[in-house]
Amino acid sequence: MKQKIITKENPILRKQTEEVLDFGIETQNIIDDMIETMRKENGIGLAAPQIGLSKKIFVCEFSPKEDSGLSGFPLTVFINPKIIKSSKKLATMVEGCLSFPGMELLVKRPESIEIEGFDRYGKKIIVRASGLYARAIQHENDHLNSTLLTDHLEEIDLAFIGTGDLGLEALELLHADSQYNVKVVITSKIVSKQKNRKAPINPIKELAKNLGINVLEVENINDPKIIETIKRSHIKLGVMADFGQIIKKEVLDIFSMGLINIHPSLLPKYRGPSPVQQTILDGNKEAGVSLILTGEKMDAGDLISQAKIRLAGTETTTILKQYLGEIGANLLLNTLSYYVSGDLKPVRQDDDKASYTRLFKPENGFVDENTSEAEVERKVRAFDKWPKVYTVSNGKRVQITAAHLDEDKKLVIDRVKPEGKNEMNYSDYLLGYKHALTFRR
Ligand code: CO
Repeated sequence: MKQKIITKENPILRKQTEEVLDFGIETQNIIDDMIETMRKENGIGLAAPQIGLSKKIFVCEFSPKEDSGLSGFPLTVFINPKIIKSSKKLATMVEGCLSFPGMELLVKRPESIEIEGFDRYGKKIIVRASGLYARAIQHENDHLNSTLLTDHLEEIDLAFIGTGDLGLEALELLHADSQYNVKVVITSKIVSKQKNRKAPINPIKELAKNLGINVLEVENINDPKIIETIKRSHIKLGVMADFGQIIKKEVLDIFSMGLINIHPSLLPKYRGPSPVQQTILDGNKEAGVSLILTGEKMDAGDLISQAKIRLAGTETTTILKQYLGEIGANLLLNTLSYYVSGDLKPVRQDDDKASYTRLFKPENGFVDENTSEAEVERKVRAFDKWPKVYTVSNGKRVQITAAHLDEDKKLVIDRVKPEGKNEMNYSDYLLGYKHALTFRR
């Protein structure tokens, strides 16, 4: 019968287990229950304490799907086991545990082991195992010695590099994850272009301060003094999003485990500074986010993972960027440990399929009667934050701040901001200014 699995820090999981002396019907029933429970929970191993029994019994088994390329191991039942040999060579793998649902930790263990004990009928057995088999045996054997997955936690120090909104969610999730320790946040020093004006808000800096993380504000990350400062922190892994500065080789070299960039497009499509805006301008049906290794060539590094989403066609840059930031953060947390363990090998981008985006200028927001209605609508969404969409009517500049297409794909202007006035409904604008804003059908 399938049994309920005991989770988290339940004291039973920490209790000293007892040797099994009797191999009779009672023990046989326990073993059958354990096998059934393990299989139904899609686990590759289960120890008796996990179903509430402080006995030295564990089972393990892995039969991968045929096309998965993984190698499995047979159903193994161990009673009163003892690991008698462990290789000096260690391996790091991502490990989970049925008693810690959803948790995946990087755990370093001997690559191969030799274990002796008894099978379910009391016959003495010795098993030599390596790879995932050795991993499962050691994990289950831990359970019999009141050791849990979380006891193996070794934090990985990392640097977060970013300035704009895109990385907010990633920074927050990395900070909350017990596997990672965000030791420093490196961000661009934003100075106001106008004198006596307060500097614009840097959202990453604000968040880092709120989370109590060390902040390093830099005008140029490639400055030799800054490079020295980063080097002194001995951080090997970096995560970057929306930073806005070129990263030179001297900085990349610091991060021997890699500097992972969160880029809001399906690379190699839309490399460069404006992927989200260009996605909307092009009227694409899908968008996405890519995790790549930062190299010297912009956005051309090896691809770690990618997530694709379908677009409704009504997204603004602000909304889509926020959404892709959330998708990217989850993708990062789901794949980072597999990258670190070496299970996930980055692959080269197909440079032949690459396309590039440019930084937009204020004049890119200009539309007039020769601009199609569909284009006006896309521009309003793409340039919602910057550089804004404007036209000139009766010699006066008018910003179009919100618009949509109706069922017949006809442009409906919702909100405008005439020169020197506050933003208003388009219907109010028409009452005062009389001239309708018209575009090409
Ligand atoms: Co476990």
